[in-house]
Amino acid sequence: MPHLLDWHLLDDATWRRCLTAAVAHYRAGKTWTEAARGKSIALIFFNPSLRTRTSMELAAVQLGAHATTITPGSGTWGFAWGEGVMDGDEAEHIREAVGVLSRYYDALGVRLFASGTDYEQDRTDALLHTFARHAGVPVVNLESAFYHPCQALADAATLATRFDGDVRGRRFVLTWAYHPKALPMAVPNSALLAAARLGMHVTVARPAGFELDEGVMETARAYAAAHGTAVEETDDPDAAYDGAEVIYAKAWGGRLRYTDPDAEAALRASHRGWRVTAERMARTRDGVFMHCLPVRRGVVVDDAVLDGPQAIHLLQAEFRLHAQKAILEHLWGLPHPRLEVFGPAFVLD
Ligand code: CP
Repeated sequence: MPHLLDWHLLDDATWRRCLTAAVAHYRAGKTWTEAARGKSIALIFFNPSLRTRTSMELAAVQLGAHATTITPGSGTWGFAWGEGVMDGDEAEHIREAVGVLSRYYDALGVRLFASGTDYEQDRTDALLHTFARHAGVPVVNLESAFYHPCQALADAATLATRFDGDVRGRRFVLTWAYHPKALPMAVPNSALLAAARLGMHVTVARPAGFELDEGVMETARAYAAAHGTAVEETDDPDAAYDGAEVIYAKAWGGRLRYTDPDAEAALRASHRGWRVTAERMARTRDGVFMHCLPVRRGVVVDDAVLDGPQAIHLLQAEFRLHAQKAILEHLWGLPHPRLEVFGPAFVLD
């Protein structure tokens, strides 16, 4: 089953094919085809979304397919996940829901954020894998507890385009930012893995207590090593910008949230100064600013950066649509567009 639960579960050839296809779709512009005519996908959002929902709906329609968005418990029954007697509020078990939808649709998408209370469940993406186990059709992860592969593909395609394919060895900084909420780690994990798999030289800048999962770091280090680059860490919010070519900002909660949420909140609040400012961006080497969105202005990043020439977050968001098309083609085994058709091919070595 060609699920897309995360890219690290798929081989390099598949990752590269989808990445190239995302860029090809970008170069093709707003095209409408019949490539996926007769196909359908159900998109199940247990959590809110603007970009992922609309870009996947539109990508399906632009390929000639049909998409249905489902918000469990709002217009459908609430879905139960656990074992045993269903004597709670939920009327339908995920097994039946996924089983039924698999008989209607040709693919399923699911967004299912981190619990924030059970680290082992979150780091293994246990609920996502349960969902996929009950599915009879390919499943795409629309952001799970630990990974956001749709965002990762769009990010990688944005970077490849920005540097015209010449991404290897460029300096990519993933910087933690303060946020009033302990946000999940899916986006930073996926951004880190995407940059490392592109062969960029990666620095993860974060205060002590906000380290990313060691297993994810290890995978990222292996990707970088295969390209002769490296993944480094720093707790200096200023020095990380020196010589950077990409600043990718993201807020995420510390591991302490799983055991002592109040202490995590206090620690996070003590690092309010971790914000992307124009002064910090001036330390970069003509660096671009990226963020997956939504972003809190004046909290994560200053207006001067978001509204300035270094920001490419809207291009990054645009790439979500092109990446979704590449992902749907992967799920359904459809041919990808060829990059050469749209202009000079770039090198992704
Ligand atoms: N970046 C992203 O996934 O945006 P949404 O949460 O709006 O889908």
